[in-house]
Amino acid sequence: MSGTVSTSGTIALDWEARFAAGTTPWERGAVHPALAAWLAAGTLSPGRILVPGAGRGAEPLALARAGFAVSVVDVAPRSVAFQREALAGTAAEVVEADLFAYAPAAPFDAIYDQTCLCALPPATWSRYAARLAGWLRPGGVLAVLFMQSGKHDGPPFHCAEPAMRALFAAPAWAWPDTPAPPIPHPAGFTELPVLLRRI
Ligand SMILES: C[S@@+](CC[C@H](N)C(=O)[O-])C[C@H]1O[C@@H](n2cnc3c(N)ncnc32)[C@H](O)[C@@H]1O
Repeated sequence: MSGTVSTSGTIALDWEARFAAGTTPWERGAVHPALAAWLAAGTLSPGRILVPGAGRGAEPLALARAGFAVSVVDVAPRSVAFQREALAGTAAEVVEADLFAYAPAAPFDAIYDQTCLCALPPATWSRYAARLAGWLRPGGVLAVLFMQSGKHDGPPFHCAEPAMRALFAAPAWAWPDTPAPPIPHPAGFTELPVLLRRI
């Protein structure tokens, strides 16, 4: 497939083509149960939150309705158009940009990563993790769903827990004492929900 090679090495138009073709097996069509649980429990509390690679997810609107100041970034124009329409009437900001070039004006209190990390080539993960760390204020939270796809020729790329612990390691990141159980994904995978704290 032809496309524009982004600074991340991903092909931007590939994602746009998937949306255009409706080949989007990652979409749940509803708010992710892990996010719903975090919101219900108050473990994620309102503040400035970034949703990178938001696609056509329902989560940015759910976060805006829950009182968060939401920023959305995606490289695919169809995703951006979807989120602009979904978030119309809220104070949310929707930015069309490559995550590897995105430079927010101020740090965030939280980031919600749902099937974004696993959509990126593993060769870019350390750069992406450094960007996530830079976008968060000290003490901020990265709410992430580590995809357990078992696929090394993704996306979605397998985010094995030992590799994630090495990627999001001290002194920049703190892991919870008790890991939450994996959550089934409609595409047949599971996802490991983790709340990481930026030190
Ligand atoms: C698998 S989809 C997930 C979408 C959404 N988070 C969901 O769960 O429905 C990955 C998303 O990341 C976006 N994306 C991939 N590479 C990107 C990059 N380098 N910069 C910005 N967005 C990117 C794609 O356009 C796509 O919307």
